[in-house]
Amino acid sequence: MIFRKENTVLCMLLLALLSACGTSEKKENQKEMNKENVEESRYRPNFHFTPKKNWMNDPNGMFYLKGTYHLYFQHHPESSVWGPMHWGHAISKDLIHWEEQPIALYPDALGTIFSGSAVVDYNNTSGFGKEGQTPIIAIYTNHDAEAEQKGSQLFQTQSMAYSLDDGQTWTKHAENPIIENPGIRDFRDPKVIWYEKDQKWILILAAAQITQFYESKDLKKWTFLSSFGEGIGNHNGVWECPDLFELPVKGTKETKWVHLVSINPGGPNGGSATQYFVGDFDGKQFTVDPNFQKEMEQEHRFWTDFGKDNYAGVTYSNWKSESKGVLYQGWMSNWEYAQEVPTSPWRSAMTTARELELVTEQPGHYRLRSIAHSNWEPYISKTIEKKLLPLEGETTLVDEKDIDLSGAIAQMELSKLENTTYTFVLANSSGDSLKFGYNHNEKQFFIDRKQSGQVDFSKTFGAKPSLAPRFTSKETLEIKFILDKASIELFYDEGATVMTEIFFSNAPFQTLSLITSAEQSRVEAFSIKELKKVN
Ligand code: FRU
Repeated sequence: MIFRKENTVLCMLLLALLSACGTSEKKENQKEMNKENVEESRYRPNFHFTPKKNWMNDPNGMFYLKGTYHLYFQHHPESSVWGPMHWGHAISKDLIHWEEQPIALYPDALGTIFSGSAVVDYNNTSGFGKEGQTPIIAIYTNHDAEAEQKGSQLFQTQSMAYSLDDGQTWTKHAENPIIENPGIRDFRDPKVIWYEKDQKWILILAAAQITQFYESKDLKKWTFLSSFGEGIGNHNGVWECPDLFELPVKGTKETKWVHLVSINPGGPNGGSATQYFVGDFDGKQFTVDPNFQKEMEQEHRFWTDFGKDNYAGVTYSNWKSESKGVLYQGWMSNWEYAQEVPTSPWRSAMTTARELELVTEQPGHYRLRSIAHSNWEPYISKTIEKKLLPLEGETTLVDEKDIDLSGAIAQMELSKLENTTYTFVLANSSGDSLKFGYNHNEKQFFIDRKQSGQVDFSKTFGAKPSLAPRFTSKETLEIKFILDKASIELFYDEGATVMTEIFFSNAPFQTLSLITSAEQSRVEAFSIKELKKVN
């Protein structure tokens, strides 16, 4: 009896323990789920592309065809941190509403699938076209992690795949790799372009801290041409994801070639960023413009974006605007903290797409400008316009009664600039604030995310404000910005200076105000448009 009683007590204890364990496990799961739901609704952008789940980095293989934009991307489909890379895939008709597609390229015997590009092979130079179907050719880096671990230097090679259904499904070329590794550890990210003058393909890739150029008639056999970059530009990190394109110089009959090179670390505000070079390309070699080189040597201010969160951006193939500008899009994060940002179940978004133009302030002094490209009009749920706002210390421009600031596009002009600072503040009642603006004394823009919400996941995320130069001396400052839950993209002076940064506020921002001690300056033609969830 005693025995039986003891047994019952023991059983009851065990049951209580088991149920306690179950409850704490349930609680943990619940917590995890709540965290995920909160992050999902608070940080998942309304109209920037994010994968449904898991990790994403660089945009890859972007091309435009038959009214559809194709965006492939570095993707780890099983984890929210970087790992064996695949090419994910998304399509869009307008660069705002995106539909994720099945994975385009899986790792294979030659390695995982790193960054690369895709071209529409209209003349079937590759011979992969069948029954009149134009082949799309993707050229990417195979990264052999096992070979790397064994100490080889030859673990990155270039390979190709083709698609006969406009980029939906892909077949790997049987004779990969198409470019063997010449003995360079970092040898990757091929970008292919059509060089009209010589009717041939050019491939540009990153090789340690320079770029290399190759040519081909059939996209399969590549011949080395030249290299670029020794002793010029920023070399504080490894060179990655190059691009090369020709642009008209606005307002002239001249054209110039622009060479983009991403670098990590070494960015103007730390970590990852994309620098550019302006010069000429004769079908064999890129040479930098002498004035441009002089300016760069004095002070390197040639970055496509001075914010911390626009990396590895390249241009869409098979796309040119009427004014012959190119379409460029980047990864909206930074290797300094990309793997720690507090979002789940996905990590990272792409920037919005931008048209790049080349301008000269004085003859011979070239500069890139980025123009926000997308047409948001069909998605705008509300517009607020205010004329001539006089400034007095702190001015509230809009608050949550006017507009939902979690998805908004604003434009305005600040006139009669004075030698003082203009600080825009996005704030909420949780005490978070994101500050950005312009210091006219220093001719410098800034973004300060120190108090923007969650910052502790990384040592550098909120540590110091990011700074950017102003390139003009106009009396009026034109400002445009795009807000989307957890990101801001700032375009100053018609895109002459761009700053893109992400942030993680504890609650949505409710007010936008402007603080300044200026007395004569005014906010003119202020307009803000609300953009609800699209994706
Ligand atoms: C740039 C990069 C590329 C590489 C890829 C790997 O962010 O490092 O150089 O191909 O990411 O995911």
